[in-house]
Amino acid sequence: MARILMCPPEHYGIEYEINPWMNTQRQADHALAAEQWSRLRDLLESLGATIEQLTPVAGLPDLVFTANAGMIHGDRVILSRFRHPQRQGEEAVDAAWFSENGFQVERLPEEHFFEGAGDALFCGSTLFGGYHIRSDAAAQQEVGRLVGCRVLPLELVDPYYYHLDTCFCPLTPTAAVWFPHAFDEYGRRVIRAEIPELIEVQEDEARSFACNAVVVGSDVVTNTGCPDLHRQLKAAGFTPHETPLSEFVKAGGSAKCLTLRLDGEEAATW
Ligand code: ARG
Repeated sequence: MARILMCPPEHYGIEYEINPWMNTQRQADHALAAEQWSRLRDLLESLGATIEQLTPVAGLPDLVFTANAGMIHGDRVILSRFRHPQRQGEEAVDAAWFSENGFQVERLPEEHFFEGAGDALFCGSTLFGGYHIRSDAAAQQEVGRLVGCRVLPLELVDPYYYHLDTCFCPLTPTAAVWFPHAFDEYGRRVIRAEIPELIEVQEDEARSFACNAVVVGSDVVTNTGCPDLHRQLKAAGFTPHETPLSEFVKAGGSAKCLTLRLDGEEAATW
């Protein structure tokens, strides 16, 4: 059964700007954010997932984006090291939750930046590691060394798609959703060579965070506004679901960012 970590948006808001989506003049509607978050949680529960909750902390508005807490591998977690000081306070909160909940917490050397499942996604036994904007390429190699897997670092070239999970979503060990424009020529070649079944997202839907999907079995949950992706998912045998997440898009996040799969994703074969 899928186990997912989420953090209620009690202290969520647009309090700083660390990606092009964020504008402190365009504040999130707090009541609406709370409602959208609850709807996402309820939908995931209705698909059979167990939701675990991280207690929100005042002054850490982006703690809701639990995908960035770390990268899970079995009962180990490689803790994130955030690039921006505004998010570095989350590391201690995440570490405490993981160790209280039975995970072995592992840290990268201090010189690395690494933003967890936001930038590190397994497709099969290979780890696809986004780098340049948040995580660095050397950190991805170090993660691969720690868990003993092959890493394919992928450079992210568009600041709107600053985390790998904003432009790439493994569905199964052989299938993924992606937005090619967010990668350089080499990255596009790597993805095409490695993943046999690719579903391509168009720009307007990428901007609605179509790639930021949560996969639970053959169910796939996204923000609203991704009809073409949903049509392609259905044709490929998946069951797409949409739920409104406008208030989180204002921070540069959507469904996937708000979740961390604690038992390993469908697409991971470790
Ligand atoms: N405001 C957050 C940031 O810029 C959003 C993080 C979204 N998380 C994700 N996994 N893409 O860091």
